Amino acid sequence: MSNYRINDLEHYFKAQKEAIENPEKFWGDIAEQNFQWRKKWNKVVAHNLAEAEVKWFLGAKLNITENCIDRHLKTRGNKTAILWEPNDPNEPAEHITYKDLHQRVCKFANVLKESGVKKGDRVCIYLPMIPDLTVSILACARIGAIHSVVFAGFSSTALATRINDCEAKVVITSDGGFRGDKTINLKGIVDEALKHMSCVETVLVAKRIDSKISMKAGRDKFLKPLLEKASDDCYAEEMDAEDPLFILYTSGSTGMPKGMLHTTAGYMVYSAYTFNNVFRPEENDIYWCAADIGWITGHSYIVYGPLANGTTSVMFEGVPSYPDFGRFWEVIEKYKINQFYTAPTAIRTLAKENVSFVEKHDLSSLKILGTVGEPINEEAWHWYDNHIGKKGCPITDTWWQTETGGMMICPIPFVTPTKPTFATLPMPGIQVCLMDENGKEIEGNRESGRLCIKFPWPSMARTIWGNHQRYKETYFITYPGKYFTGDGAMRDEVGYYRITGRVDDVIIISGHNLGTAPIEDAINEHEKVVESAVVGFPHNIKGNALYGYIILKEEDEHDKLRNEINRVISEQIGPIAKLDKIQFVKGLPKTRSGKIMRRILRKIAHKDTSKLGDISTLLNPDIVEEIMKGAL
Ligand code: WTA
Repeated sequence: MSNYRINDLEHYFKAQKEAIENPEKFWGDIAEQNFQWRKKWNKVVAHNLAEAEVKWFLGAKLNITENCIDRHLKTRGNKTAILWEPNDPNEPAEHITYKDLHQRVCKFANVLKESGVKKGDRVCIYLPMIPDLTVSILACARIGAIHSVVFAGFSSTALATRINDCEAKVVITSDGGFRGDKTINLKGIVDEALKHMSCVETVLVAKRIDSKISMKAGRDKFLKPLLEKASDDCYAEEMDAEDPLFILYTSGSTGMPKGMLHTTAGYMVYSAYTFNNVFRPEENDIYWCAADIGWITGHSYIVYGPLANGTTSVMFEGVPSYPDFGRFWEVIEKYKINQFYTAPTAIRTLAKENVSFVEKHDLSSLKILGTVGEPINEEAWHWYDNHIGKKGCPITDTWWQTETGGMMICPIPFVTPTKPTFATLPMPGIQVCLMDENGKEIEGNRESGRLCIKFPWPSMARTIWGNHQRYKETYFITYPGKYFTGDGAMRDEVGYYRITGRVDDVIIISGHNLGTAPIEDAINEHEKVVESAVVGFPHNIKGNALYGYIILKEEDEHDKLRNEINRVISEQIGPIAKLDKIQFVKGLPKTRSGKIMRRILRKIAHKDTSKLGDISTLLNPDIVEEIMKGAL
């Protein structure tokens, strides 16, 4: 792909101009020269954004696993594709070469076929960060099954909702997983989730922690014996460019998560192109993205993007604090990592520990540092730059979303001059704009507004699984003909973008998207709760934390209730959604139409009550004063 690597700022502006003036040629050339196709497209792009209709590489045929694995076998067969670093540093790592990966993916694909999985069927993957996770994703893609990976930190209720929504036929899980000094009982969670479900025919179980688990006869099967006897030859299904590749759920402003659907060719082209330009891999580089594959970052930049480029991609099972806070830096030294990609939350967590955890390790192999998932504050940016990059590694602050499939706004290392807390400029072909609240585009620099995108890009999600209307309403109705990101942004005097945060009811906690609605639904299930409202407030490690205002039916001991409510949230959603602060209130500020005024609650949680705005139009203005008095 190096013929498409942007080398300097002039080249960047030229590429951006070409991509805007002639997207057919720009993306057509990239696709033609850097990937393997069974059949070429008839047209590069067809779109009607107002109707939320987008197609790329129309009529083309391909299989993404041939691009990520088979085509590298001749020249890179013995090169490590996936370098797996286990949770426990004393356990041996696994170096899975492209040849090994090919064999494992083919075997796994044959096991799926034998389990009755056919092209277009949904397979839910609920696995910890073990090699089987990557292998099973690619095995689905090999035979044209649609994978839906669910992050292994989600609870049984959250898992059940996701399995049900896409009507998965098969679930792939493990007996459990290791995370730091904890073990998680994944199979038990799957059993719980499947209690009232009829769509799942087979559960395939990998072994990781050797725990005692129950196996349901006729439904549950251990993977190992099946893989051992499976053939290592598996035809790569011929897929249409627009055939679905995967579903990945993300939080929305209603209780139901949105199953974002990504399709084959456009996703492949854009994830690989952006990986190549942003991380700039050389043939012998070792690249590490420390995200979990349960999120889009792992899909695009641990699995598909790096493998399409023939890169060695590190997959880490553990956590940054185990066995101590030096683990990331130890792994960087151990494998001489060249590009490192993590979240601001992780940086803030590690920056508050003694710097000797960093200084013990030789980090001189590093060339490029990346961040993703939430805005990075200035202090964390400088700590990353000083202590990890030693002021010699460009930091790429990458803004993008589950919906966008790939990085959208970020500095291209060694090309775009960085500026702390700024995601800087859009990737070529990404036509960003700022909109005001009246639906008008804001021209000029030194302006703030709502971040939108005016023209389709190859890896944009095509729909919400089973609900195209919701897809259209969420992203394309607010500003007709434009994709609305849900984020606010400002543009500085040179045109650099800084993302200021969500403008809707999604809150980003430690880089994870959480909708307030499902959390409130969970709280309201507690028998003593009448109603609740959840908002975010700034937190110095997690970026944001959750503040809940709760009305009780009857009084009870507050600390006990706080624990119980957090337990319900943990069970329904997962521990990441626990509330840091819970204030019991007599009422919630509401508009005359009965809508909770979260803006006011947010201000109180932010301890910023100087400009509450006009509250006289509220149904119950007195309650505001009372809530302010009891604020935590
Ligand atoms: C936020 C993660 C500021 C943003 C790839 C976005 C960011 C949401 C950044 C998507 C960044 C992501 N700076 N904010 N560099 N990256 N966000 O779907 O609010 O898990 O809309 O995708 O995270 O989160 P998601």
